[in-house]
Amino acid sequence: MYRTHTCGELRLSNSSQEATLSGWVQRVRNLGAMTFVDLRDRYGITQLVIDDESSEELKSLVAKLGREYVIQAKGVVRERSSKNNKIPTGEVELEVKEITILNESVIPPFTIEDESDGGDEIRMKYRYLDLRRNPVRNNMILRATMAHHIRNYLNGKQFIETETPVLIKSTPEGARDFIVPSRMNQGEFYALPQSPQVFKQLLMVAGFDRYYQIVKCFRDEDLRADRQPEFTQIDCEMSFVEQDDILNTFEGLTRYLLKEMKNVEVDEFPRMPYSEAIERYGSDKPDIRFGMEFNDISETVKGNNFKVFDDAEYIGAICAEGCATYTRKQLDGLTNFVKKPQIGAKGLVYVKCNEDGSFKSSVDKFYSQEDIKKWADQCDAKAGDLILVLSGDKGHTQNALCELRLEMGNQLGLRDKNVFKPLWVVDFPLLEWDEDAKRFHAMHHPFTSPKAEDYHLLETDPGKVRANAYDLVINGVEIGGGSVRIFDSELQSTMFSLLGFTKEQAEYQFGFLMNAFKYGAPPHAGIAFGFDRLASLFAGLDSIRDVIAFPKNNSGRDVMIDSPSIIATEQLDELSLKLEVKED
Ligand code: AMO
Repeated sequence: MYRTHTCGELRLSNSSQEATLSGWVQRVRNLGAMTFVDLRDRYGITQLVIDDESSEELKSLVAKLGREYVIQAKGVVRERSSKNNKIPTGEVELEVKEITILNESVIPPFTIEDESDGGDEIRMKYRYLDLRRNPVRNNMILRATMAHHIRNYLNGKQFIETETPVLIKSTPEGARDFIVPSRMNQGEFYALPQSPQVFKQLLMVAGFDRYYQIVKCFRDEDLRADRQPEFTQIDCEMSFVEQDDILNTFEGLTRYLLKEMKNVEVDEFPRMPYSEAIERYGSDKPDIRFGMEFNDISETVKGNNFKVFDDAEYIGAICAEGCATYTRKQLDGLTNFVKKPQIGAKGLVYVKCNEDGSFKSSVDKFYSQEDIKKWADQCDAKAGDLILVLSGDKGHTQNALCELRLEMGNQLGLRDKNVFKPLWVVDFPLLEWDEDAKRFHAMHHPFTSPKAEDYHLLETDPGKVRANAYDLVINGVEIGGGSVRIFDSELQSTMFSLLGFTKEQAEYQFGFLMNAFKYGAPPHAGIAFGFDRLASLFAGLDSIRDVIAFPKNNSGRDVMIDSPSIIATEQLDELSLKLEVKED
């Protein structure tokens, strides 16, 4: 028997009992008269003590121990003379009688403790060592617990967990596909699923009624803190439902998870049309933990010979409460922030609302105190507040103002990680104009149904058509998205043609789906949550990498197994592939 207890288990009540522990040596402290060893496993740390009176054999074994050696220690539990109240086992220690070295370890490249000295890259390379650290492993445990609760909730609501294939044909979700060559069908390729979208719809045609899957999806797109090339969705679909049924069911799942995982009860899940979210927050995923909403002051500020404003399509202002005390340096900092290339504003106009009722702005040359009072009134600014104004073309300015609002939210501590504010953003546009390709893309995906009241615009003004599509946003993160689907093969063909598919292309790529729709497809709708994003939100982390056991880095590489990697010529030959490396 390797162990009688785990390293997190022994307490004062075990005093005088014999115990055997197995684990990793975290630290050895030789104090002359006695040696202490911190023995670690997944469950905790127990202090081992080897007294000076121990046998020479035992002492010489202990002298050999190094960090991360795997050992078994037999001994008797005793009360510690100096207790450590930071760990649950801190009142006891194991007085060691016998040690067996089960395996040695070379010196690890970084310290495997809660606070590590290892940089990001090295910890990724040795991820299996990083995963020995409590904070990293706890994130994985949180993820596993979440998966358990998700299954519990959905199983209880009659959802059938169904696996769908990974070697499939391209399913458009807006990213590039990862492609797998087929050896048995030379010259042909599988695509890895960007999502199981078409399969879950086919399961509805199959009468499954309620499907879910916690499933890996693959998207070849530029990576960010909240994007990985392979990530996990909680993918769901329901039949004979309308949009409200989906929103209510998944609001239920979210409430259940927040309660089980965070002991948080959410009062409300407001629903906001996409167009309103853009006007009020400049984003389709607004963080509504704080206000600081946009004010369109275009009409108020034009006509004073301030060319920047007079020429602008849109002039938007936010009011930062209590920030009139911002110094020159802080204001310059904000100006530099909005001018960063990723944000792209040309400059920042500010107004300080002084305590005495006067105003100090960066455009005093053009505007009188009365003029500026109008801006302040429109922004509901009080004495002591700071108004920040950006201008330019509407889309870019709203984006930049959105970033500035979030930055001010950070600076003012308004984005508390322990506060959860969900929001449904609804009524997304059906289509999105792609200026480069000079054609429409589906904003969600091509299987999303248009709103019945907008059907008449499909031919005349497709850009204005709204979709039965919705996103779940929590604290400014897009956690999930879904839609009510088209279930009529005629409408689906119209949609493909709006998206620029010829009849032949649509038939080639989606013939199977349109054909399936001819055999009695029920009305259906669904949603997919980004499981990694939800886990990182619950863990209070900024990057989804930290809730993935073996993530990729920002260039899509797994630096631990060193992938992607080149393959042998024989493998290429077998697949009839020829590698031509392009010269730059
Ligand atoms: P969508 O493309 O909105 O919808 O994806 C659903 C959710 O998946 C998460 N997500 C990602 N997470 C990490 N890394 C990525 N690269 C990544 N891409 C997306 C987001 C997103 O909200 N088939 C539809 C769902 C449906 O219509 O039912 C779909 O995949 O949290």
